[in-house]
Amino acid sequence: MSQLTVAVVVGSIRKESFNKQFAEALVKQFPADVKPQFIRIDDLPLYDQDSDAQPPAPTVARLRQEIKAADGVLFVTPEYNRSIPGVLKNAIDQASRPWGQSVWAGKPAAVLGVSVGAIGTALAQQHLRNVLAYLAMPTLAGHETFIQWKEGLVENGAIGSASKEFVQGFVDAFVAWVKQHQQA
Ligand code: FNR
Repeated sequence: MSQLTVAVVVGSIRKESFNKQFAEALVKQFPADVKPQFIRIDDLPLYDQDSDAQPPAPTVARLRQEIKAADGVLFVTPEYNRSIPGVLKNAIDQASRPWGQSVWAGKPAAVLGVSVGAIGTALAQQHLRNVLAYLAMPTLAGHETFIQWKEGLVENGAIGSASKEFVQGFVDAFVAWVKQHQQA
């Protein structure tokens, strides 16, 4: 079976980010034929439409290339003020332009997130889904995953035993979704 690459975009650039810890643990449950690639977003310039006429900054070119090469995209994001963090929106905007050259179009995607709050990023995810719909990214539905950060969610770099099976269900559905969208 051929190897697939999933770009993993974490919406927090905080060193000890719960979302980053969770994403790093989650990808350990990917099957052997799916390789995660963590996408760096902390070194991108702020999107400026005037730059569309210029060659992209090296970090922007890297972002666009990595997304272009991916078979699917997994967004793992915190909720900031009931939406997604600006750094994530900036990365999405950077890879969506110049007009007509968006590298997101058609990539199968899924969203999930970790929050310290009780509603576990539900509103941020809903905002993100709107953006992904505009970008023509088919996004996994029916596996809503709103996670509240609690001790034991991630243990020694792996998903804790209480959540492992639940997370595996999400991973299996997402991998099937990505495979379903592979072009023959
Ligand atoms: C938050 N946090 C937060 N939590 C939430 O459930 N809903 C929200 O709207 C917000 N808003 C918000 C705004 C800003 C600016 C910050 C810094 C934080 C709390 C958030 O869930 C918490 O900081 C997480 O730890 C952020 O995720 P990472 O960085 O740990 O991945």
